[in-house]
Amino acid sequence: MATGIPSRNSRKSQKQNVIPFRLEYEGKIPIEDILKIPVAKLHRIISIDQHPRNRLIYGENLRVLSSFLNDDTIAGKVSLIYIDPPYATGSSFESRQRDHAYHDLMEGAEYLEFLRQRLVLLRELLSDEGSIYIHLDDKMACAVKIIMDEIFGSKNFRNLITRKKCNPKNYTRKQYGNTADYILFYTKTDNYIWNQPFNPWTETTAKKEYQYVEKETGRVYKKVPVHAPGVRKGATGQPWRGILPPPGKHWQYTPETLDEMDARGEIYWSPTGNPRRKVYLDNSQGISVQDIWLDFKDAHNQNIKITGYPTEKNPDMIKRIILASSNEGDIVLDAFAGSGTTAAVAEELGRKWIAIDNSQLAIATIVQRLVKGTEAMGDFINGNSSAKHEQKCLIGINRILRSGLDLYIEETPELDFISDNVIHDWDSKLNFQANLV
Ligand SMILES: C[S@@+](CC[C@H](N)C(=O)[O-])C[C@H]1O[C@@H](n2cnc3c(N)ncnc32)[C@H](O)[C@@H]1O
Repeated sequence: MATGIPSRNSRKSQKQNVIPFRLEYEGKIPIEDILKIPVAKLHRIISIDQHPRNRLIYGENLRVLSSFLNDDTIAGKVSLIYIDPPYATGSSFESRQRDHAYHDLMEGAEYLEFLRQRLVLLRELLSDEGSIYIHLDDKMACAVKIIMDEIFGSKNFRNLITRKKCNPKNYTRKQYGNTADYILFYTKTDNYIWNQPFNPWTETTAKKEYQYVEKETGRVYKKVPVHAPGVRKGATGQPWRGILPPPGKHWQYTPETLDEMDARGEIYWSPTGNPRRKVYLDNSQGISVQDIWLDFKDAHNQNIKITGYPTEKNPDMIKRIILASSNEGDIVLDAFAGSGTTAAVAEELGRKWIAIDNSQLAIATIVQRLVKGTEAMGDFINGNSSAKHEQKCLIGINRILRSGLDLYIEETPELDFISDNVIHDWDSKLNFQANLV
């Protein structure tokens, strides 16, 4: 049934009778109250005076996002949000150097409301052409989908992407091994930035799909129907060259367009006189990307470069998202920045970026990453990582940051204090690299 083609009439009647549903739980506060959440007091502590000016913020993201509502350079101007929040694992996380990174201890309704409040604010920051991607695992993805339908509207749900996150493990539990996590993709409206991603054809996949060679030109092609499901009363429902579309179908093109295609040699006529359209391999950009992503496992061998921050995501996966859902110069925001994967990839792709995290280790990791890039995972495993030690030479060709930066910290007793020495160290590393340009 799932791959069947519903009749047009049955779809219409279903739409008229849709009864909306919500997720109710204790502690769910009204949207109006979320929009009045107190703002963060932000202090700029480091600046790199180049254009564009990206923002890295050490702060509690709820208050930081709330303060962005009053910033007309951000509110309604963000093209893309990617977040990879805590997953309600009930665990705390450490870096590969065994330093505390962050807690992920909220569960149930407390977790859902934590995320919901941030999602409400994030929606306000998106431009009308904007998109949001939320990375979760199998524990909360289904509940968050319902919350997202409430906030963004189910009509703005685009995909639930399944990502293969790791190689198969030897599971001893009585269940299937878990190698997947999930990315919910929503847009603010139905007029959104979309640069269709394609996977290139391999020789085998191309040969399987495109089996014919045009004698006159040598071009490789496949044959596809020129009709589509559904009955039409207009020109596409009428006979073309004396042939009616098959029962329950219509021509995909008007008779005039079909004539033009035939004149160009783009219609194949079977020996029994049935028309089919020729689709040429050399006109194809590849196979359009689907909603199962198998190629973006997180660090899984010793040559892969990482920062050593826990739960660090595959930069190529973020690259796919940024390329598909933003254009150069657009603002990309990550409110759970971690090791700064989104920031680093956005920088590489010429986007402006905003990264927020309330872990001091995350901010230190991002500064290090911007200055010096990442290191092979084997170095962490073998204890050779320089991440913890002072760099002998700061002139790193792996430097990520090429544009400007403002680093803010939130003034609040809730966050771990950052000493003047640390700030001075970050400042000199960042500005030293920036002045090399
Ligand atoms: C799963 S990690 C993100 C990893 C990141 N995607 C990467 O590639 O490195 C989640 C991050 O959210 C941060 N975080 C959790 N709660 C936060 C909050 N309320 N405000 C700001 N950051 C928060 C944590 O400190 C942690 O760094």
